[in-house]
Amino acid sequence: MKEIKIETVLTVYDSLDELPKDVISLMQKASEARDKSYSPYSNFSVGAAILLENDEVITGSNQENASYPSGLCAERTAIFYAGAQFPDVKIKRMAIIAGSKLKTTETPIPPCGACRQSIAEYEVKQDAPIEIYYMGEKGKVVQSHSLANLLPLVFDKTVL
Ligand code: THU
Repeated sequence: MKEIKIETVLTVYDSLDELPKDVISLMQKASEARDKSYSPYSNFSVGAAILLENDEVITGSNQENASYPSGLCAERTAIFYAGAQFPDVKIKRMAIIAGSKLKTTETPIPPCGACRQSIAEYEVKQDAPIEIYYMGEKGKVVQSHSLANLLPLVFDKTVL
Protein backbone atom coordinates (compact mmCIF):
# COMPACT_ATOMS: atom_id res chain seq x y z
CA MET A 1 0.00 0.00 0.00
CA LYS A 2 1.17 3.52 -0.66
CA GLU A 3 -0.35 6.94 -0.57
CA ILE A 4 -0.18 9.30 -3.50
CA LYS A 5 0.00 13.01 -2.82
CA ILE A 6 -1.31 15.25 -5.58
CA GLU A 7 0.00 18.80 -5.77
CA THR A 8 -0.87 21.61 -8.08
CA VAL A 9 0.65 25.02 -8.71
CA LEU A 10 -1.46 28.09 -9.39
CA THR A 11 -0.44 31.75 -9.46
CA VAL A 12 -2.74 34.23 -7.77
CA TYR A 13 -2.64 37.90 -8.77
CA ASP A 14 -4.21 40.55 -6.54
CA SER A 15 -5.87 42.22 -9.50
CA LEU A 16 -6.07 42.15 -13.28
CA ASP A 17 -3.77 45.19 -13.45
CA GLU A 18 -0.84 42.98 -12.45
CA LEU A 19 -1.16 40.93 -15.63
CA PRO A 20 0.40 41.57 -19.05
CA LYS A 21 -1.58 43.72 -21.49
CA ASP A 22 -2.50 40.82 -23.78
CA VAL A 23 -4.05 38.90 -20.88
CA ILE A 24 -5.95 41.99 -19.71
CA SER A 25 -7.28 42.40 -23.22
CA LEU A 26 -8.37 38.73 -23.40
CA MET A 27 -10.12 39.08 -20.04
CA GLN A 28 -11.82 42.22 -21.35
CA LYS A 29 -13.15 40.16 -24.27
CA ALA A 30 -14.37 37.52 -21.82
CA SER A 31 -16.13 40.28 -19.90
CA GLU A 32 -17.83 41.56 -23.07
CA ALA A 33 -18.91 37.98 -23.84
CA ARG A 34 -20.28 37.70 -20.30
CA ASP A 35 -22.58 40.63 -21.04
CA LYS A 36 -24.21 38.38 -23.66
CA SER A 37 -24.83 35.53 -21.19
CA TYR A 38 -28.33 34.10 -21.30
CA SER A 39 -28.82 33.12 -17.66
CA PRO A 40 -32.36 33.96 -16.53
CA TYR A 41 -32.57 30.90 -14.27
CA SER A 42 -29.36 31.07 -12.25
CA ASN A 43 -28.68 34.79 -12.58
CA PHE A 44 -25.05 33.76 -12.74
CA SER A 45 -23.29 34.98 -15.84
CA VAL A 46 -20.03 33.69 -17.21
CA GLY A 47 -17.86 34.82 -20.11
CA ALA A 48 -14.93 33.03 -21.69
CA ALA A 49 -12.42 34.16 -24.30
CA ILE A 50 -9.99 31.85 -26.04
CA LEU A 51 -6.81 32.96 -27.77
CA LEU A 52 -5.75 30.69 -30.62
CA GLU A 53 -2.24 30.31 -31.99
CA ASN A 54 -3.30 32.18 -35.14
CA ASP A 55 -4.30 35.14 -32.91
CA GLU A 56 -8.04 34.58 -33.47
CA VAL A 57 -10.11 35.17 -30.34
CA ILE A 58 -13.20 33.04 -29.76
CA THR A 59 -15.67 34.02 -27.07
CA GLY A 60 -18.62 32.37 -25.40
CA SER A 61 -21.07 32.87 -22.57
CA ASN A 62 -23.31 30.54 -20.62
CA GLN A 63 -26.59 29.76 -22.36
CA GLU A 64 -29.35 28.43 -20.15
CA ASN A 65 -32.54 26.57 -20.95
CA ALA A 66 -35.92 26.02 -19.29
CA SER A 67 -34.92 22.37 -19.37
CA TYR A 68 -31.93 23.10 -17.12
CA PRO A 69 -29.46 20.39 -18.23
CA SER A 70 -29.85 21.51 -21.84
CA GLY A 71 -27.95 24.73 -21.10
CA LEU A 72 -24.23 25.06 -21.63
CA CYS A 73 -21.38 26.74 -19.76
CA ALA A 74 -19.45 29.64 -21.26
CA GLU A 75 -16.18 27.71 -21.46
CA ARG A 76 -17.68 24.85 -23.46
CA THR A 77 -19.67 27.20 -25.69
CA ALA A 78 -16.36 28.85 -26.60
CA ILE A 79 -14.11 25.82 -26.84
CA PHE A 80 -16.53 23.76 -28.93
CA TYR A 81 -16.84 26.68 -31.34
CA ALA A 82 -13.04 26.90 -31.52
CA GLY A 83 -12.82 23.15 -32.13
CA ALA A 84 -15.51 23.31 -34.79
CA GLN A 85 -14.19 26.35 -36.65
CA PHE A 86 -10.43 25.92 -36.21
CA PRO A 87 -9.83 22.19 -35.71
CA ASP A 88 -6.14 22.41 -36.63
CA VAL A 89 -5.23 25.55 -34.72
CA LYS A 90 -3.80 25.21 -31.24
CA ILE A 91 -5.42 26.95 -28.27
CA LYS A 92 -3.00 29.12 -26.30
CA ARG A 93 -5.09 30.36 -23.42
CA MET A 94 -8.56 30.87 -22.00
CA ALA A 95 -9.74 33.76 -19.84
CA ILE A 96 -12.86 33.29 -17.72
CA ILE A 97 -14.85 35.86 -15.77
CA ALA A 98 -17.93 34.93 -13.77
CA GLY A 99 -20.29 36.22 -11.17
CA SER A 100 -23.78 36.60 -9.84
CA LYS A 101 -26.06 39.22 -11.34
CA LEU A 102 -27.53 39.74 -7.86
CA LYS A 103 -24.39 40.54 -5.90
CA THR A 104 -20.76 41.35 -6.58
CA THR A 105 -18.62 38.25 -6.93
CA GLU A 106 -15.07 38.94 -5.79
CA THR A 107 -13.76 35.39 -5.55
CA PRO A 108 -12.16 33.82 -8.62
CA ILE A 109 -14.55 31.31 -10.24
CA PRO A 110 -12.80 28.26 -11.68
CA PRO A 111 -14.30 26.28 -14.56
CA CYS A 112 -16.67 23.50 -13.48
CA GLY A 113 -15.65 19.85 -13.70
CA ALA A 114 -17.42 19.23 -17.00
CA CYS A 115 -15.68 22.24 -18.56
CA ARG A 116 -12.31 21.09 -17.22
CA GLN A 117 -12.89 17.71 -18.82
CA SER A 118 -13.80 19.35 -22.13
CA ILE A 119 -10.81 21.69 -22.11
CA ALA A 120 -8.56 18.75 -21.17
CA GLU A 121 -9.67 16.96 -24.32
CA TYR A 122 -8.24 19.74 -26.49
CA GLU A 123 -5.07 20.01 -24.40
CA VAL A 124 -4.42 16.30 -24.95
CA LYS A 125 -5.40 16.57 -28.64
CA GLN A 126 -2.97 19.42 -29.33
CA ASP A 127 -0.26 18.05 -27.04
CA ALA A 128 0.44 21.53 -25.70
CA PRO A 129 -0.72 23.29 -22.56
CA ILE A 130 -3.76 25.55 -22.50
CA GLU A 131 -3.18 28.37 -20.06
CA ILE A 132 -6.19 29.31 -17.94
CA TYR A 133 -6.94 32.61 -16.19
CA TYR A 134 -10.07 32.96 -14.10
CA MET A 135 -11.60 35.61 -11.90
CA GLY A 136 -14.82 36.88 -10.35
CA GLU A 137 -16.29 40.18 -11.44
CA LYS A 138 -13.36 41.91 -9.78
CA GLY A 139 -10.53 41.12 -7.42
CA LYS A 140 -8.00 38.33 -7.61
CA VAL A 141 -7.10 36.51 -10.81
CA VAL A 142 -5.86 32.92 -10.79
CA GLN A 143 -3.52 31.62 -13.47
CA SER A 144 -2.92 27.98 -14.25
CA HIS A 145 -0.16 27.15 -16.73
CA SER A 146 -2.17 24.26 -18.07
CA LEU A 147 -5.59 22.71 -17.71
CA ALA A 148 -3.92 19.59 -16.34
CA ASN A 149 -3.14 21.54 -13.15
CA LEU A 150 -6.86 21.91 -12.58
CA LEU A 151 -7.77 18.32 -13.34
CA PRO A 152 -5.47 15.76 -11.79
CA LEU A 153 -6.20 12.12 -12.63
CA VAL A 154 -7.73 13.15 -15.94
CA PHE A 155 -9.70 10.59 -17.92
CA ASP A 156 -8.39 10.86 -21.47
CA LYS A 157 -8.03 8.91 -24.70
CA THR A 158 -4.94 7.08 -23.50
CA VAL A 159 -7.12 4.80 -21.37
CA LEU A 160 -9.50 3.83 -24.19
N1 THU B 1 -21.38 28.05 -15.55
C1 THU B 1 -20.48 28.32 -16.53
O1 THU B 1 -20.80 28.94 -17.55
N2 THU B 1 -19.22 27.85 -16.38
C2 THU B 1 -18.78 27.14 -15.30
O2 THU B 1 -17.66 26.67 -15.29
C3 THU B 1 -19.65 26.97 -14.14
C4 THU B 1 -21.07 27.33 -14.34
C5 THU B 1 -22.75 28.49 -15.73
C6 THU B 1 -23.75 27.38 -15.90
C7 THU B 1 -25.02 28.05 -15.45
O3 THU B 1 -25.58 28.77 -16.55
C8 THU B 1 -24.57 29.04 -14.39
O4 THU B 1 -23.18 29.22 -14.60
C9 THU B 1 -24.81 28.59 -12.96
O5 THU B 1 -24.30 27.34 -12.73
